[in-house]
Amino acid sequence: MPLVTPTEVYKQAMAQRFAIGAFNVNNMEAVQAIVEAAQEERAPVFIQVSQGAIRYAGLAYAAGLVKIAASLVDVPVILHLDHGTDFEQNVMCLRAGFTSLMYDGSKKPFEENVAITKRVVEIAHIVGIPVEAELGQVLQSTDGVSEEQVRAAMTDPDQAKLFIELTGADSLAVAIGSVHAMRSAEAELDIDRLRAIRAKVNVPLVLHGSSGVKEDSIREAIEHGICKINVATYLNQAFVQGLRETIEKMPYEPDYRKHLQVAREYVKERVREKIRLFGSNGRIDSTGGFVSPRTVHRAVDLGALE
Ligand code: G3H
Ligand code: ZN
Repeated sequence: MPLVTPTEVYKQAMAQRFAIGAFNVNNMEAVQAIVEAAQEERAPVFIQVSQGAIRYAGLAYAAGLVKIAASLVDVPVILHLDHGTDFEQNVMCLRAGFTSLMYDGSKKPFEENVAITKRVVEIAHIVGIPVEAELGQVLQSTDGVSEEQVRAAMTDPDQAKLFIELTGADSLAVAIGSVHAMRSAEAELDIDRLRAIRAKVNVPLVLHGSSGVKEDSIREAIEHGICKINVATYLNQAFVQGLRETIEKMPYEPDYRKHLQVAREYVKERVREKIRLFGSNGRIDSTGGFVSPRTVHRAVDLGALE
């Protein structure tokens, strides 16, 4: 089906307490892995393009690949800009056909973050495209961050309320203890803070840096309002592992498809695993619409018995 905006998907996620996987891509194989897993799991999915992906693949290739992939499946696919850097980049993505945007002004002073987010929201809403914003900072593990730094960068619940009122942003990325690009799942989220934010802010909340977060903490976060979960490093590790294994096995094989297809399969299985962890599996029926909540629970129960 054609790309969709996240509006209905978020509504369902908030009402039924599940989260949608937002998977980062850099090439065709990753895009294929994600849509194939989403199709098999009957899950809605975000495919997102980071700043690194834009530099590597280019906006046109990235958007083109995701549009083609979406047209080949009958589950909702959302094309999302991840950590958009400025107003101009968001406009370029609107023109390129993105169905969901992000402006990340989290490193800027509050007033500046508000002002630019508001501008992006105003222009995106003219054409019905929702915007994710970020308040508090999800730091980078590559910067060697301490626990104190992570804590100091967390989202303030009262400020979050004011931020959403002032900007009209449709969803909010919150800093609640995760750190970008961690190589193993060790972090625990500050669920009390998440609950305090949820009590004051009624837009869908987004978790960044999920590769470094323990599974139990992710489950709890979904219970308390996280509706979109970004995953990049965990997939990249699988891709590289697939390449490494086949190159070790066949070091002189010139047909690189033999390596890439293993990498693609490994990414697909990790996407499937995350979709199930987030509870977004079994949500979409054969017409591409959402199944009723009762049907979902039955399907999950029956699956567990097999
Ligand atoms: O925006 C992208 C994500 O927050 C991905 O974070 O690489 O730690 O999974 P991750
Ligand atoms: Zn992120």
